Order: sequence, then C-alpha cells, then structure tokens
Amino acid sequence: MFLQMRYQGTLARKQCGEYFVVLHRVILRVEPLEEVELTFALKQQNVKQMEELLKLVSDPDSHQYGKHLSLEEVAALVQPSQLTEKVVRNWLQSHGVKNCHTVVTRDFLQCVMTVQPQKLDQFLIFYLSFSGWLKHYSLALNFTATHLDFVGGVHRFPPKGKDISKGWEGARQSALGYHLGVTPSVIRSRYNLTEKDVGTATNNSQAVAQFLEQYYNPADLAEFMSLFAGGFTHMSAVERVVGTQGGGKAGIEASLDVEYIMSSGANISTWVFTNPGRHETQEPFLQWMLLLSNMSAVPWVHTISYGDDEDSLSDAYMNRINIEFMKAGLRGISMLFASGDSGAGCRHLTKERNTFRPSFPASSPYVTTVGGTSFKNPFKLTYEVTDYISGGGFSNVFAMPDYQGGAVQAYLKNVQPLPPQTYFNITGRAYPDLAALSDNYWVVTNRVPVPWVSGTSASTPVVGGMLSLINDQRFLKGLPSLGFINPRLYKLQGKGLYDVTEGCHLSCLDDKVEGKGFCASPSWDPVTGWGTPNYPALLKALMD
Ligand SMILES: *[C@@H]1O[C@H](CO)[C@@H](O)[C@H](O)[C@H]1NC(C)=O
Ligand SMILES: *[C@@H]1O[C@H](CO)[C@@H](O)[C@H](O)[C@H]1NC(C)=O
Ligand SMILES: *[C@@H]1O[C@H](CO)[C@@H](O)[C@H](O)[C@H]1NC(C)=O
Ligand SMILES: *[C@@H]1O[C@H](CO)[C@@H](O)[C@H](O)[C@H]1NC(C)=O
Ligand SMILES: *[C@@H]1O[C@H](CO)[C@@H](O)[C@H](O)[C@H]1NC(C)=O
Ligand SMILES: *[C@@H]1O[C@H](CO)[C@@H](O)[C@H](O)[C@H]1NC(C)=O
Repeated sequence: MFLQMRYQGTLARKQCGEYFVVLHRVILRVEPLEEVELTFALKQQNVKQMEELLKLVSDPDSHQYGKHLSLEEVAALVQPSQLTEKVVRNWLQSHGVKNCHTVVTRDFLQCVMTVQPQKLDQFLIFYLSFSGWLKHYSLALNFTATHLDFVGGVHRFPPKGKDISKGWEGARQSALGYHLGVTPSVIRSRYNLTEKDVGTATNNSQAVAQFLEQYYNPADLAEFMSLFAGGFTHMSAVERVVGTQGGGKAGIEASLDVEYIMSSGANISTWVFTNPGRHETQEPFLQWMLLLSNMSAVPWVHTISYGDDEDSLSDAYMNRINIEFMKAGLRGISMLFASGDSGAGCRHLTKERNTFRPSFPASSPYVTTVGGTSFKNPFKLTYEVTDYISGGGFSNVFAMPDYQGGAVQAYLKNVQPLPPQTYFNITGRAYPDLAALSDNYWVVTNRVPVPWVSGTSASTPVVGGMLSLINDQRFLKGLPSLGFINPRLYKLQGKGLYDVTEGCHLSCLDDKVEGKGFCASPSWDPVTGWGTPNYPALLKALMD
C-alpha cells in the first residue's frame, strides 16, 4: 500500500491558532488504488485527572512516587465515553467502514477502508472532513469536534525547506578533519561506566523507535559490537522487533540508535519498534503510540531520535501526542527525545522578521529531551562543551511546566545578554533537560564502519541506556522504574551531572542575532539542560 498526499494550496494560520488550508488542489495518489489505513484518535476522558496523577507519581517528595499504573488502569481512566465510541463507530459504519480495530485503552480506532477510483472525490471529502479543514463543507460532521481529536494522516503538513544555512554546514564539514571518534569505550569512560555497570535484572528492557524507512540490520549490530564493544558484557542482538522490519539498506539513524543504546545500556534486553508502510511518512508517531496503547508489557525506557518543527504540525495533533506521553509516564515508562540538530532553529516570518523555531516532541513537557555536546579538545577525553547544533529553546505550544519554573527563571535572570525577546516565547516549555556527547561517532551501517556521525540522535540513546542501567539497579532493590524523570531531575539541581557551561548554539543568520541562539551557563540552560551524566553520581542520586 502506498499513499501520498501533496497539498498545493496556501497554508494559512487563523488568528485563533488553528490551521486551515485553502485547498487549491489536492493530489492524492494511491497505488494500487485499493486500501487505505486510517487511524482515528477518539476523545479521551479524565485528561486533567491523569495530568495531576502523573505529577504525583513522578514527584519524589510525594507519597505516591513510583506508584505507577498498569495499562488496564490507564485504560479505565482515559477510555472514551460510550457515547463517543458509539457515535464514531456508527458514523464509520454508515460510510461503509467496517474493518476497524481498537486498542486496550479504546482511544484509538484503526480502520482499513477501500477507495474506489471512480469515487476518489468522495473519499477526499470524507478524509479531509475529519481533519476539520472542511468543517464548513460538511455539516454532518459536527461530531468530530466533540468525539475525535484527529485522524491519522491528515495533520502533518509537508515540511518547508530547512533554514540552516550552507555556511553552518560548511563550517561543520571543515571541522571534521580529524580521525579520533566516539566509540562505546569513549562513552563509557567519559561517563564513568565501569565494566561492572551492565544490566543484570532479568526483566529489564529498553527500546528505540524507528520511523520512516529506517531499519537496523542485525549483522551491522553484531559487527559493531565485535569491532567496538570490548571490555564490558553486552548483547549483540536485538531481543524483539515490534512492527515490520523492512528489507533494503540499513539506515544510519537506526544503526546509530541501536548500537549506542546497547553500549551504554549494556547487557539489557533491547527492543526496536519499527513502522510498517510508507503511508506513515505523514504521521510518524501515530502507529507507535497506538502499539504502546495496545501492549501491557513494554520496555521501561524508549528513545526516539525524530522530530518536526512545531509550526509544521497542528495543535490538535501535538496536544493528543502529549496526552499519549502522559499515559506512558503514568505507566512508569521514560520517554527520551532528541532535542534536534538546528540549535534554536530559525523561522522566517516576513522578509524582515525571524524567530527561533522550536521542535516537537522535544518541546513536550512530558518527555525528557536530550541535547548535544562535544569534547573541548576533540582528540582527548576532556570536559564537554556545547555542540553548536544542540537543539534547544522555548515551545510556542506548551506552557512551562511547574517542575522547571525555578531553573528556567534563574537562567533568564542571570544570563546576559539573551537573544531579543521577539525570537522566543518566554512562557513556553523550555528544553533540553540534559545532554550527552553528540559529535563524531563511529557507527556500522551496511557492514561498513562509518566515522563522523553526529547529532542529538546520538546523545539520546546514550542517555537512554544509562537510565536503563539505573532502572536495573532499582529493580534489584525492589524499587519501581524511574518513569517520567523530569520532576525528579530538576529537583536534583544538577547533582549527578557534569555541568556544561561553554559555548552557544546556532540560530538565525540575520543582523540581529548573527547566527547565535542561546548560550550554555552554570546550572540549567536551554542548550545542554542540566548537563551530561556522571553515571555513578547520577545512580547514587536516583537510588531511592
Ligand atoms: C490490539 O490487540 C488486540 C489483541 O491482540 C488485537 O485484536 C487488535 O487488533 C489490536 N489493535 C490494533 C489497532 O492493532
Ligand atoms: C452543525 O453545527 C452548526 C453550528 O455549530 C449548526 O448550525 C448545524 O445545524 C449543525 N449541523 C448538524 C447537521 O447538526
Ligand atoms: C568520574 O570520572 C572523572 C573523570 O575521569 C573523575 O574525576 C571522577 O572521580 C570519576 N568518578 C566519579 C564518581 O565522579
Ligand atoms: C547479563 O544479563 C543476564 C540477564 O539477562 C544476567 O543473568 C547476567 O548475569 C548478566 N551478565 C553480567 C556480567 O552481569
Ligand atoms: C519482573 O518480573 C517479576 C515476575 O514476573 C515481577 O514481579 C516484577 O514486578 C517484574 N519487574 C519488573 C520491573 O518488570
Ligand atoms: C507562547 O507560548 C504560549 C504557551 O506557553 C502560547 O499559548 C502562546 O500562543 C505562545 N505565543 C506565541 C507568539 O506563539
């Protein structure tokens, strides 16, 4: 199945903040023109209550700390009202959509429907109606606002051209003139992991999620481990692949994620969640969230090296995914996201006006976002400084959560000069939360060792593996998993982490900011968060 939509229209933003599209023409290509899979996100109940509960189970000072919920308990809380389920199902049935599957939490419906070539127009109207774009076209669809958050496949706009200038890329290229690179042993010695720091608990596990056409290759992983993973016990194969592993070439992203989470989180059973089908290019997170909502036992730590500009996504879509992250947190699952590789980012509003460009899900208040660093001296295991690509900034969608208020206010007050206030939203969720090395990694992909792989997609699995090791020690002591770690991380005030205080990340190349975004500073900053893990110290700080 192959479904590709392209929008040839004017993308406009209404004042109320809701996207709408003035559709000039929609080209829909379905090859072969047969079946289309759509995912309906039904309106959930008790979202506010869930948010409060998540605060309690994630706050180390609360009596309810660590009292996580099972998937079934989460389901009892969030499942849609009977009315919602009935209305949506009836409506689908009346349109001949019968082949639908739900999940344990009952808040998603995945349906396969047939598109007949001669009825393409009719299908398009059906399809687009759900998104709310054609709200005024079809009055019969009034219920969508009440009963549905969105339908998978229609909410992601085609990404606009990237704003990182050639200049920055050039600078990066020329900086690559040396040969020493980051390997598992470099990671393990920098973060003070000894040969004893490997997983031992029997039912611990960790996962990476892959999207688009990124597949890891088991042979690459085995070769990577034999080449680079000396001196510590580790696994050389993935325990479980959820979803369909595609054929063809291995992707560098997938290779990187799997190889490094299994190097820091050594000897811990590792899963790969991978997405079937190319139609998911429009909705990379949907399939994965749906899978998590349908599986009672999933790994405790998930790392994801994938994101989009906030302004390329609809608020409805981001809000719903944010709720899915809350669901995971309530279950004691830690979600780690790469902070992005464009520094503060840059968005051209008008010819004269630019702003920074936050990235989602990095900007979600319910995930732990990981930025990037490099060694001060790239040839040596020195202290770390900002990697100028490290994504960071302030969300324009999500408000600043309580747990980070003090840290962020202190940064805004103490660090001068800040970029002009027109460039960022001082009330938004600020990220990243912490960081790790993101520069100059060795990866094996398609059987070839490849040097100089860089980005926060490298730092994220490295941190994920270390959180898994901490979970491991906690399980051995009979303690619950770390779960959603941010409230606790901010209370640590940097304890257990190496503070990164040097360097700035990149942003708009204009006269006002001249390519500079935020700068690292003592304690928290929107470039490297609280800093990078000092494993034994962090373990000690998180062992109760
Ligand atoms: C969820 O799991 C159940 C039981 O394994 C299955 O019948 C159902 O089809 C799954 N739902 C989806 C959307 O895949
Ligand atoms: C849909 O809602 C609008 C106003 O919100 C109302 O005028 C219209 O009658 C409704 N249509 C149906 C079919 O209920
Ligand atoms: C961690 O490594 C650093 C640098 O090698 C060292 O100074 C420190 O003593 C080590 N141990 C701890 C617990 O921080
Ligand atoms: C590796 O993990 C297994 C459990 O999966 C455990 O039995 C074994 O002792 C671990 N190895 C080391 C060296 O700790
Ligand atoms: C490990 O498995 C045992 C037995 O099934 C269970 O009691 C325990 O809660 C599990 N621990 C974790 C962290 O899954
Ligand atoms: C700033 O962030 C808040 C959320 O904290 C949001 O409601 C507001 O719309 C944002 N402002 C802009 C200009 O995007």
